[in-house]
Amino acid sequence: MCGIVGYIGLREAAPLLLQGLKRLEYRGYDSAGIAVLNGEMRVVKQKGNVAALGEAVAACNGSVSGATLGIGHTRWATHGDPSDRNAHPHVSGEGDIALIHNGIIENHAALRTELTKHGYRFASDTDSEVLVHLIDHLWKQIPFLDFEGAVRQALTIVDGAYGICVISSREPEKMIVARKGSPLVIGIGDGEYFVASDAAPLIEYTRRVVYLSDGEMAVLLRDGFSVKTIDNITQEKAVTELDFELGEIEKGGFEHFMLKEIYEQPMVMHDVMRGRVRLEEGLIQLGGIADRLEQLREAKRIVICACGTSWHAGLIGEYLIEEFARIPVEVDYASEFRYRSPIIGPGDVMIVISQSGETADTLAALRLAKERGALVVGICNVVGSTIARETDCGIYTHAGPEIGVASTKAFTAQVIVLAMLALALSKDKSMSEAELTVALQCLNDLPDKADRILESNEAIRDIAALYKDASNFLYLGRGYNFPVALEGALKLKEISYIHAEGYPAAEMKHGPIALIDEEMPVVVIAPKDNTYRKVLSNIEEVRSRKGRVIAIATEGDEEIAQLADHVLHVPHAAPFMMPLLTVIPLQLLAYHIATQRGCDVDRPRNLAKSVTVE
Ligand code: AGP
Repeated sequence: MCGIVGYIGLREAAPLLLQGLKRLEYRGYDSAGIAVLNGEMRVVKQKGNVAALGEAVAACNGSVSGATLGIGHTRWATHGDPSDRNAHPHVSGEGDIALIHNGIIENHAALRTELTKHGYRFASDTDSEVLVHLIDHLWKQIPFLDFEGAVRQALTIVDGAYGICVISSREPEKMIVARKGSPLVIGIGDGEYFVASDAAPLIEYTRRVVYLSDGEMAVLLRDGFSVKTIDNITQEKAVTELDFELGEIEKGGFEHFMLKEIYEQPMVMHDVMRGRVRLEEGLIQLGGIADRLEQLREAKRIVICACGTSWHAGLIGEYLIEEFARIPVEVDYASEFRYRSPIIGPGDVMIVISQSGETADTLAALRLAKERGALVVGICNVVGSTIARETDCGIYTHAGPEIGVASTKAFTAQVIVLAMLALALSKDKSMSEAELTVALQCLNDLPDKADRILESNEAIRDIAALYKDASNFLYLGRGYNFPVALEGALKLKEISYIHAEGYPAAEMKHGPIALIDEEMPVVVIAPKDNTYRKVLSNIEEVRSRKGRVIAIATEGDEEIAQLADHVLHVPHAAPFMMPLLTVIPLQLLAYHIATQRGCDVDRPRNLAKSVTVE
């Protein structure tokens, strides 16, 4: 969950590294550092964010200037608390090797003991530091071993996940990078190369990138680079052309990335369906799974695995696939699935959902299912991510880069992909051609409806002002809107730090109703569907205990206004589409409550955008 960057070329490395780290700060921001080589190894690192590091670099009166080779790191601590000495880069005893690492070295304790026996002294409490000393040790111990050989040797010894960049004043004309379990991308320039955890820092310099795969290592020189496996087998790597604009990364005039991404949802809905929802032909075309569609249709059962917000999308996927494709579905937290002895095998399908495509638990669940012979389908947003590349087939969500740690547009895109998948599997199962065409029309009408909901942003901001000091919130929904209640509660928790719970509305009577009094705001998702009347009686139960009710209701529903303290209307749509509309007011409510409480919604405490360790 750290951000790593590297540069080798003809330009000043330090400013490029700092700029790159700024773009990766959503991956981790508790400490940062750079190391550059200008004849000597120069390291500047400290606790705090990248802006503070920039000041420290500026204050070291030019000792880093003139360097055209360097590495940089922004951290999200796992081993060793955020501090100057635990910040990366870590250097060898003589200071002539510098290394940055994203991931976890699982056998670090044993290696530390071993290296200490050989006289190595450790300057930090991190797992990462063992790697730089191990490289130094092997380089000194094994005759005729060069820098590349020492790094390769070391990587055959360590266990765990890593994305690393290493430089050394002993061989000052190269940078060595490698990955296993953590992402790494190489950007190809003219006579210069960039390395980063993802493409965000690269786009302003080049569109030509190479994604490293697990178990690969690259040696970058100013006039070229080579990729081999850790076992020294040369790899021919495809060059990918990046397809997003820098502007997409910038805030586009919004105060926060989260708000910008909430407002991007109508456009994202278009992008997800573009070329896939074929209204004229009355069909759904999903190229990424086309050659597996039959296998999917014949699946004995489908297991959906994911984490966090993606898991909530998976729950809606269960409702959609069972309703339209009539295939039994179970939804699992990936972290639970991988450690319970799950039953999965040939004939089964696993769908893994991940915005980043790097979430460790989801990746592990995917690998377990593949090992057991199930077909694994991926739904990912980050193109070229590990999960995307390791699945048998998949569907990209095309939501564009999602920078805000609290996922919004990626969730919407995931639900639309699941709806398209369910409809694509529904043929001759639950829907006539006419019914399918109606459903496709519903999908097509979504972006305009979402646009209309964004017009109630001010009204939502005013409601937020009334409840920003609440200490608890309850979210209730039924059917397709139960997972939306969970998602609304998660959004509020992760950016405002208010305790919130989502529940199936009917479950309230079995416990949570005890929490309700005049201090408890209760958000009730109550569109006009087959459970509407039931939800109205749930609202009555809340009101009779003086709970404050914020209702998400269908446009034109005046009856509910008699019962609720506040009503936020969303346009009417088919029940299976409603989650895509009812979630938007909940995203905005959480956003406004958090900003009015002075929370940094783009970089909420204790959270990182991509959870690459378990
Ligand atoms: C959601 O707002 C959170 N950032 C988090 O729960 C996230 O959904 C989870 O970590 C899964 O991430 P993924 O979709 O990238 O796998």
